[in-house]
Parts: sequence; C-alpha cells; structure tokens
Amino acid sequence: MKNIRNFCIIAHIDHGKTTLADRLIEWTGLLPKEEKEKHKQILDTMEIEKERGITIKSQTVRLTHNFDGKDYILNLIDTPGHVDFTYEVSRALKACEGAILVVDASQGIEAQTLSNFYLAFNENLEIIPVINKIDLPNADINMCLEELNNEFGYKKEEVLLISAKNGTNIDILLDEIVKRIPPPRGDEKNPLKALVFDAIYDNYKGVIVYVRLFDGELKVGDEIIFMSKEEKIFKVEEVGYIQLKFKPCEKLQTGEVGYFTASIKNISDARIGDTVTTFYNKALEPLEGYKEVKPYVFSSVFPVDPDEFEALSFAMEKLKLNDPALIYEKDNSLALGFGFRCGFLGMLHLEVFTERLSREHNIDVILTAPSVTYKVKLKNSEEVIFIDNPIKFPDPVEIEETYEPYVKAEIVVTSEYIGNCISLAESARGVQIGITYIDSKRVLLEYEIPLAEIIYNFYDRLKSISKGYASLDYHIIGYKESKLVKLDILVAHEKIDAFSQIVYEGSAVYKGRQIVERLKDIIPRQQFPVALQAAIGNKIIARETISAFRKDVLAKCYGGDITRKRKLLEKQKEGKKKLKRFGKVDIPQDAFVKILKTSEDENK
Ligand code: GTP
Repeated sequence: MKNIRNFCIIAHIDHGKTTLADRLIEWTGLLPKEEKEKHKQILDTMEIEKERGITIKSQTVRLTHNFDGKDYILNLIDTPGHVDFTYEVSRALKACEGAILVVDASQGIEAQTLSNFYLAFNENLEIIPVINKIDLPNADINMCLEELNNEFGYKKEEVLLISAKNGTNIDILLDEIVKRIPPPRGDEKNPLKALVFDAIYDNYKGVIVYVRLFDGELKVGDEIIFMSKEEKIFKVEEVGYIQLKFKPCEKLQTGEVGYFTASIKNISDARIGDTVTTFYNKALEPLEGYKEVKPYVFSSVFPVDPDEFEALSFAMEKLKLNDPALIYEKDNSLALGFGFRCGFLGMLHLEVFTERLSREHNIDVILTAPSVTYKVKLKNSEEVIFIDNPIKFPDPVEIEETYEPYVKAEIVVTSEYIGNCISLAESARGVQIGITYIDSKRVLLEYEIPLAEIIYNFYDRLKSISKGYASLDYHIIGYKESKLVKLDILVAHEKIDAFSQIVYEGSAVYKGRQIVERLKDIIPRQQFPVALQAAIGNKIIARETISAFRKDVLAKCYGGDITRKRKLLEKQKEGKKKLKRFGKVDIPQDAFVKILKTSEDENK
C-alpha cells in the first residue's frame, strides 16, 4: 500500500487534463513515446468525446513510475471539466488521495478551477497546483502564479510549470505525485470495503464494476454483496486493473483501484456509490458513498417508432448504469405514445444522452421542450406543488403564486468584457450580488439568475459575447416568486403537448413569436395550408401560416420505368420515417429541440 498513489486531474474545461493524461501514460511507458503524435486524448474513448474534444466520462488508468529506485503504482482518474459533469468529478475525488489542479497559462484561473479546487479541498485531498501550456507564446506565468497565490494561498515554489503538449517537466510532476500525495490508508485484515465508482455493461460478462478498495481484498471466487441490496450474492469471476485494457490479476488489495465481474446481468443490482463487501465476512458499515444528485432539467423522450419502446427501455437502463445522474420514469403522451420523463444535470448532459441513444443503441427519439421544476401555490390551499412537466401546469384560475428555481452564477471575465457580461446577465433577468477583482485584469461577477434562463443557451451566449474569455459556474440556491404562464403551441389548430412550455410572463409573447417563426422553417410544407399558433390559455399571441405544397417526386419521370419510380417512392418513404404525424401534420423529430435554439445559436 505504501507504493500506491491514487489521484485525479481536475481543471476548467480545455485547460489540458486529457492531454496531460496522455503524456503521463507515455512517460510511464504504457505507450511508447516515439508514437507521440498518434496519441491524442487516449482516455476520451467515447466517439462523442473525440468528436467534440471534451471529456464526458471519468476514465481510470494504472501507471507505474520508478522513483528513488522503487516502483510505484499510480492510479490516475481523468475527469470532465464542463459544469454539467461536476458530479463525475466529485465521484472521482472520493476514490483518490490527491488531485493535480491544472491551470492554463494563457487563461489563468476560471470558474470551474475555483469550484473544482473547493470540491477537492473539502474532500481533504492533497492538491498539486500545475500551470500548463507554458509553451504558448501568450502564456502569462506570473499572472497565474499571482492568482494561485491570491485565491488558494499557493507559494511560487509549490507550483509546477509544465507543457502537456511538449512533455516539459512531466518527469518532475511524476516525482512530485509520489512525494506529495499520501499513500492510501486502510487495513488489509479488515472485511472488504470497496466503493463502486463506475460501471459499464458488457454483453458477455454482464456488469463490469469499477471499485476502489478501502479495506480488505477482493479475489476470484469471493462471494460478494452490494450493501444496499444485501439479499443478492454474487460470485466474483474476474478481478483486475485497467491499463487502457482490462488486465485480469489474482486479487485487488486495500488501496487499489480496479474492476471485477460476477455475472451481474441485472443492471440495477450494481449501483454507483454502493459499497461491496464479502458475504461471509461482512463490513459493519458501508462507505459514505455519494450524495444523491438532483437533476435540474427535465424532458420527455419518446421513440420515433412506437415499436421501439422496449428497446428504448433497455437502452435507458444501460445508459443509467454508468451515468447515475440520469433519472427517469415512465411517461405517456396522447400524441407521442409511451416514453420516459427524464431528468438531466444540464443541456449538455441532455444532448450527450440523446446522441448516445442514437449512436450506441441505434434508437431515434423525440425529445420534448426541456423544463426546470417550478413550484405552484394553489388558491384556497396551503399546498405547494412541484411541476416538472408543462402538461401538469394547473389552470391559471386555480393558481395563487408561482415560483421558479434560481442559481447563483459566478462569471470570471477579463475587464474589457465586463460590460457585455453584465448586459447578458441582465437580459437573463439576473440580479448582481457581487463584483470582485481576482487580479489586476480579471473580475469575478456574481449574479442570481433564474435557472430556466441559464439552461437554454446562456453558456454559449456568454462565450460568444466575451470571445471565449468568460467562464461560468453555477449552483442552485432555491426558489423565488415569479410570474409564470403556460405557453401552448397549436399546429393546424391542434395543441401539441410536446411543444408546451412554462415561461416567464414578461417574455411569453416574444417566445411565442419566436417559436412559431422557427416552426415555419422546420415543418415541411403539407398539401394544405397549416396554421401555427402560440397561445396562453385561449388567447392567441402569435401566428404564422405554412402555405400548401406537394413535392411530386415522380415529376421528373416521364414514361414507364417502373423500377426507377419505385426507387424514388422508397426514398421518399425513408425520408418520412424521420417525421412524426400529429393529427394531419408531419413534424420532423428534431423540431422539438430545434425550436429552443435561437437564431443567435445558429449563426455561431
Ligand atoms: P475537457 O476534457 O473537455 O475538460 O478538456 P481538457 O481539460 O481535457 O483539455 P484537453 O486535454 O482536451 O486540451 C484542450 C486543448 O488544449 C487541446 O487542443 C490541446 O491540444 C491543448 N493543450 C493541452 N495542453 C497543452 C499544452 O501544454 N500546450 C499547448 N500549446 N496546448 C495544449
């Protein structure tokens, strides 16, 4: 145990965590250095991660490093940086004794640098501050040193200067990991206590459970239980550690990070945050585990093809296995049939979820307009109800007061963009509660803003008005009274539930207009004119019309080549699969998400 170090890399998005992980993997000899060019974002294994260049899932890898003539095992966990995935970071921290805090030399401390530092600090981890990208011509090392000192009290000599891209000082960092991060504590003689910090599903082996052992040992043949569901016993079939691949070994010992399989076919049996112990020699108490996460954004998901409901149901279970922040329950809609009401941590989480459904499970879904959870106090009653689905919004005559969730948002920005950020926050109904200088150039703005304003596109707009210089972090602070109404959308005079939204009264007309204008572009022309209307109760507040049109795909085919005609008709049918019929009108499946994007987003 003395020779083990468990650590993670934390940073603001894009400050270079995954690139640093690549270099650590090479320097410790897991991959040859000569092939450096080929190794990019090794730990971002998901297709979406590679395409977007962001980390979504934490990844684990076991490295070995020789220091002072002794071999050390370094278990590294790479973590995501985007605010939607903070929960992944907090899980990774629980499995570690130390963290490398990476700061981009050209950017300095950003909003998530602050929040991730405090997450690690509160877990009592040993933190190694590192300034990365020192090779950049615009690197400002002195500014970063000053900020690290002002914000966290680090002295100059405690901070390492590296370039993850070029490999500068990576060897020194590896030595410092061994020197500064304490070895794990725990007792091998105690009964097994292992924290489940992640899991994936394998069609042959069942659930592969990722664990960090805090006490005891785990080997093949052990009979184990998950402490939240003690009635089910599993026999361990394989144990091992992760070195880019699964490497089976004889046993895992106290302090180690690794995986095991035990023919766990029922996905819900393995829960992230649970404690694994042996059946015959049980631990007395489970580990503390993780705090339940509360999703902020809700949306319903329906399969485009209703026959795919079963497949969707299985896919959701599988995704939930390694994405514990996803919550869902059965839902049904008159127009869309059976589906699920899902809760997400933010819009990026929602987007990633739908992409994974389509890529990993080949299921096309329709998503309804995302909503936060509102609170409504009814007249003549003490009762306050929570509404996370616009369909359930009570009749306005029954409502006494409505409330919406607020966040405290922290924006870090350079002084030239303060004005832009303030106007943006104000346009999002934000109220300023603080403004402080971090150093001579950068400012921390603090605002209270309704969550509904933040989730749609606040982050993207913030990035574009500050040319990428502003960063954002936020957390929920509670509910405040707010005038809310339900905005309905009618297509060909039929209300489409899935388009309904709860909105702030003051922006209802603007939003209604925006939605019908957008729908006009999104819904293909039909063989008859289609009225698009936005309404609050019975009052129509906006209207557009799509004029009639019929695309005759056979128009170009004179004469009698029947096979060509058939081909064209088949093709047209294919195209129609992506449309869903509501009453008389076909609506494309992505319309539900597209209407939320403003024209600003599209122009980017
Ligand atoms: P997320 O996982 O999305 O939070 O990002 P990350 O923190 O893992 O950042 P990533 O490693 O993906 O790096 C972001 C960008 O910075 C990439 O384009 C890297 O090539 C670049 N980068 C990382 N380290 C260095 C460095 O030392 N020097 C230079 N010049 N560029 C670097």
